[in-house]
Amino acid sequence: MQFPVRRMRRLRQNESFRTIFKENAIDPNKLILPIFIVEGLLVPKEIKSMPGVTQLSVKDVGRFAKEARNLGLLGMILFGVPARKDLIGSSASDPEGVIPLTIKEIKENVPDMIVITDVCLCEYTDHGHCGILRGNEVDNDATLIRLCEESIVHSRAGADIIAPSDMMDGRVQAIRRALDDNGFSNVAILSYAVKFASSFYGPFREAALSKPTFGDRKGYQMDPANTKEAIMEAKLDIDEGADMLMVKPALPYLDILAKIKEISLIPTGAYQVSGEYSMIKSAANKGFIDERSVVMESLLCIKRAGADFILTYFALDVLRWLNE
Ligand code: PBG
Repeated sequence: MQFPVRRMRRLRQNESFRTIFKENAIDPNKLILPIFIVEGLLVPKEIKSMPGVTQLSVKDVGRFAKEARNLGLLGMILFGVPARKDLIGSSASDPEGVIPLTIKEIKENVPDMIVITDVCLCEYTDHGHCGILRGNEVDNDATLIRLCEESIVHSRAGADIIAPSDMMDGRVQAIRRALDDNGFSNVAILSYAVKFASSFYGPFREAALSKPTFGDRKGYQMDPANTKEAIMEAKLDIDEGADMLMVKPALPYLDILAKIKEISLIPTGAYQVSGEYSMIKSAANKGFIDERSVVMESLLCIKRAGADFILTYFALDVLRWLNE
């Protein structure tokens, strides 16, 4: 059937038509907010490369979590910046470290806030790489041991979900075993299964003070050119016992997300990363684009590509807008 019988504009004729026949919508329950907590920080500090996002101190976090919950936020992912960094990222597994203290603070104030912790070493090592070095390379298997220690410490402090972002091979299996052996079989694993070596992480590295002091992360994070490898990474992590997966960054990698959704039967989300945030924010601050509509459109597109949940620095803004 062709024009003039078939008229696609019929269903676009007014807001009610458009609303009823909308195929996808942003679900406020599926948003996860990343936050940065800095050990020894006295007052919240704005991150220059991410206007509108602040680094928090441990003591700010309880109040912050309560406000976020009042807006309807169900989950947060934590990134810690320790006071001390060293070769092996010792503070990553310190039970009195910035993340364990933050988890306790959130759980005391909002017990049912889902607390996800990013498990990686880059914020804790003085060289800024995501693992233990052997020469100038990151030693995969030596790093696994540290990631397991870090995961156990986070779980003991009350984390609900461990999210390894290091991209070492075998980390999901190793962490699953370590958690089970230590009585944390209820703690879930959200794998950054498909994490590309992306320049879109630039602003994050200022926020988390985690820029590598030499080289780059291409020896462990994925090549942006590769699709089949991404599917393989996702399959491996599912087999290793991941409870959920994510693709990162989000908007430039929606083709990858859509393909992974075809093979993944576990919740599979996307991370709208710092560079995606800062591009929108700075263009909006200059008046070049309308922040609210661009944010909503970008998240809707991530959802349309198949994301079951979305990590975004805009989570609280979106909740505020949807509550209006
Ligand atoms: C830690 C980690 C990074 C991000 C999340 N976890 C940085 C990196 O891999 O360099 C990036 C998040 C963002 O850019 O918002 N490995």
